[in-house]
Amino acid sequence: MTGIDASDQRRHPDVGPERVTVLGSTGSIGDNTLDVIARHPARFQVFALSGKTRLDKLFEQCVRFRPGYAVTDDAASAAALSRRFRDLGVPTNVLHGSQGLSFVASHEHADVVVTGIVGAAGLLPTLAAVEGRRRVLVANKEPLVMMGAVIMERAARSGATIIPLDSEHNAIFQCLPDGSTDCTGGGVKRLLLTASGGPFRTLDASRLADVTPAEAVAHPNWSMGPKISVDSATLMNKGLELIEACVLFGMNSDDVGVVIHPQSTIHSMVEYVDGSVIAQMGAPDMRIPIAHGLGWPDRIDSGAASLDFGTMIHLDFEPPDEVRFPCLRLARDAARIGGIAPIVLNAANEVAVDAFLEGRLAFDQIPTIIESTLQRVDMPHESTLEGVLRVDNAAREAARELVTGRLAR
Ligand SMILES: NC(=O)c1ccc[n+]([C@@H]2O[C@H](COP(=O)([O-])OP(=O)(O)OC[C@H]3O[C@@H](n4cnc5c(N)ncnc54)[C@H](OP(=O)(O)O)[C@@H]3O)[C@@H](O)[C@H]2O)c1
Repeated sequence: MTGIDASDQRRHPDVGPERVTVLGSTGSIGDNTLDVIARHPARFQVFALSGKTRLDKLFEQCVRFRPGYAVTDDAASAAALSRRFRDLGVPTNVLHGSQGLSFVASHEHADVVVTGIVGAAGLLPTLAAVEGRRRVLVANKEPLVMMGAVIMERAARSGATIIPLDSEHNAIFQCLPDGSTDCTGGGVKRLLLTASGGPFRTLDASRLADVTPAEAVAHPNWSMGPKISVDSATLMNKGLELIEACVLFGMNSDDVGVVIHPQSTIHSMVEYVDGSVIAQMGAPDMRIPIAHGLGWPDRIDSGAASLDFGTMIHLDFEPPDEVRFPCLRLARDAARIGGIAPIVLNAANEVAVDAFLEGRLAFDQIPTIIESTLQRVDMPHESTLEGVLRVDNAAREAARELVTGRLAR
């Protein structure tokens, strides 16, 4: 089994703080990352932060953590933020756009890069971090779905270290021998991703058409951004994670199982050929995988509560219902087909989820839009960035037309 050499990564006690770039710092992953960083001021220092719409929050984060760089979406917001820093004497340079994100993601002074941007917008900075040979803590799963093989191959070539932050993949990383990420040897039989089942786990299929965005983002166990919360409600999140697991751990999609576990106490499991199943448990708190990734191979305090085995009575498991939640089936099929299918799946899902969150599409139409887009878009697969972006654009256009067509009826 190959992987990252943990002894190479162990921190020498005399080195100064590690400098961390947090992409998407104004979001949920960003909040949790900064919370863990703040608990270890001698160990971590913030190098760069980024946000898109929540600029007051980005401003406050910069005032508190004093990073060298902040990155906004466009030139106007960058200039406005820069003025505010000057007035207050905050020594933060402001950049903007994907060039700015790629700059702070690949900068030689950024020892660690946390990818907390949502969706395909994180693709370019993820590639930049990998090509810049950084230690990359990956939460932003969509780039791995779009061009995971290329990202892993470029990481291997540059010598970048990739550590999964998604709780399921971080759990699997913890259940493998220290530093292993390649499951193609070493006696691993299959990976088992756990899923809470989301807020509609027990809802009758006939009622799924009427659920509201507010109900869909009210996840029973986790507090997350709106897109991933809707993905959890449709089970697309588990489908994207299935593809992510194949990429990160070199597994075949048929050897990655999904099991519904409503308590979200076991975050995922690895089954070995001898029948042993190793599970990682913990409170449903993203600071646990984030602290694991930031500290690895050391263990550092995350601030999360301990599990209370005195009151924890049940650990329940059930198979996923792919009839009520077809997104998981669509993702599994896309993983099997490969080529452009995962790119189209991801793009169509982003368009459909946006439309649902904006009240333009019913919840139960999300899988319909994705399936129709998969049927419509037929293009050659090129693994170059330009080729992937061409397919991504074509799929978004097709999905938007399908959403609009549905409204016109
Ligand atoms: N949240 C979790 O617990 C969790 C767990 C596992 C994996 N993940 C993955 O981590 C990623 C982030 O999820 P999240 O829940 O933290 O999302 P979120 O709360 O919505 O935060 C997204 C972040 O990305 C920024 N952003 C959005 N669109 C952007 C764009 N076009 N260009 C640049 N920045 C942009 C946002 O900026 P503004 O807010 O300023 O607009 C925000 O900082 C997703 O890929 C998700 O699947 C999240």
